[in-house]
Amino acid sequence: MAVKNEWDYDEFKNAFFQYTGLDLNLYKDKQMERRIRQLIKREAKPGFKEFYEYLAATPPALDRFMNYLTINTSEFFRDEKVYNQLVAEIFPALIENFPGKLVVWSAGCSIGAEPYTIAIIMDRLKVLSRVEIHATDVDDKALLLAQKGCYNQKQLGKTQPHVVEEYFLRERDTFSVKPEIKKTVKFHRHNLFTDDPFPGCHMILCRNVFIYFKQEAQIFLLKRFSDSLKPGGYMVIGSSEYVSNPAQYSLIKRSNTIFQKNYQHHPF
Ligand SMILES: C[S@@+](CC[C@H](N)C(=O)[O-])C[C@H]1O[C@@H](n2cnc3c(N)ncnc32)[C@H](O)[C@@H]1O
Repeated sequence: MAVKNEWDYDEFKNAFFQYTGLDLNLYKDKQMERRIRQLIKREAKPGFKEFYEYLAATPPALDRFMNYLTINTSEFFRDEKVYNQLVAEIFPALIENFPGKLVVWSAGCSIGAEPYTIAIIMDRLKVLSRVEIHATDVDDKALLLAQKGCYNQKQLGKTQPHVVEEYFLRERDTFSVKPEIKKTVKFHRHNLFTDDPFPGCHMILCRNVFIYFKQEAQIFLLKRFSDSLKPGGYMVIGSSEYVSNPAQYSLIKRSNTIFQKNYQHHPF
């Protein structure tokens, strides 16, 4: 009888899940399998089995692989149009409708540019003292960078020069978020699928995160986010993401990237 010693992608996914707890089944299969095959080639391994054994035996390679999977690209004020709408319309409405504490959750915050952008906006709107910003990610390395709060010019994205001047300390090519902004963001290691969501949010930003996930996983997350939102609260997604039939999550479309949770009762 022939002995089968070559793994297929399913066998790799199972072994990887047992070893790391990260479920590759949540990701779009074709796209992820293609990316992993490219990596196997780059690492000059003959197949999935050998690649898995290499990852399990080589912590730096596993680290590199996790980085590759989680795609940390991010920058301040990413997608100007979205932030313009948040500043001109959405935050003023939240501030008026909810006079107490405002809870914002940046889900999949990567290196922290997104939650710090929110903190800067809240400061400019003079409500920073009543905002609680939770920023979560599954990637420890990204979270460490986020907590450090130091960025290069490219990561500042479209941040206007006077905003850079006011909110960052510059040392040569490094821009550090000022302590008064830094201290308002609480970072937590959190897996969107397996850890409890944050309840009672006035805004959830989950941008450029679920684009990589299968439809079932996206539906699961959108239901979770909707349950976590207060009636009248907002959900913000990335410009290349899409919510089909927002009503099934009790969400009303306010623009391509911004949705508001139905008011079932009075917001206070
Ligand atoms: C492309 S970044 C998006 C960063 C930021 N939201 C933005 O739009 O600029 C995607 C982030 O999602 C995180 N992520 C992926 N899967 C996750 C999961 N299951 N739970 C929590 N975060 C996850 C990744 O680690 C990565 O930092």
